[in-house]
Amino acid sequence: MNTRTVNLNVNGDDLILNVPVHQTLLETLREQLGQTDTKYGCGTGECGACTVIVDGDKSLNACLTLTATMEGRSITTAKGLVKNGKLSEVQEAFVSETAIQCGYCTPGMVMKSTSLLLKNPNPSEEEIRKELEGNICRCTGYDAIVKAVQKASLSFPLIKNAAE
Ligand code: FES
Ligand code: FES
Repeated sequence: MNTRTVNLNVNGDDLILNVPVHQTLLETLREQLGQTDTKYGCGTGECGACTVIVDGDKSLNACLTLTATMEGRSITTAKGLVKNGKLSEVQEAFVSETAIQCGYCTPGMVMKSTSLLLKNPNPSEEEIRKELEGNICRCTGYDAIVKAVQKASLSFPLIKNAAE
């Protein structure tokens, strides 16, 4: 099998991984590293369940990204937003606004929302809905998710610290 060695930082840990050249970042996270907090939904870039943050603030669909192309990059997953056992402001807001039902979309929603707030700490409702267009939730109807992001935006810049 054709493999490649990749240096990657995942949730603060420096890793040297040997991966098949065709392996996606989602497969690396879930199957090689056992980090199942990043979800597999469609595998084709349509649902956003696999969203992670790269290099501190950029959201990315892990199912569309080959790990072999990520040399030297840092990856943050929903698990990486938890600091000293404390949820990030965005995660807290999803809980307090009941923006979670089955929870399958939640890690991706949280990562996309965190990325948005890092770029735009005070987004309008329209901007939030536009940013989350690529993240599908089959349960909540989205209103509670938008409210959670609005609530979390009041806590900026704590969000910035959580992603670092
Ligand atoms: Fe990646 Fe659906 S699993 S976008
Ligand atoms: Fe079930 Fe979003 S809470 S898919």
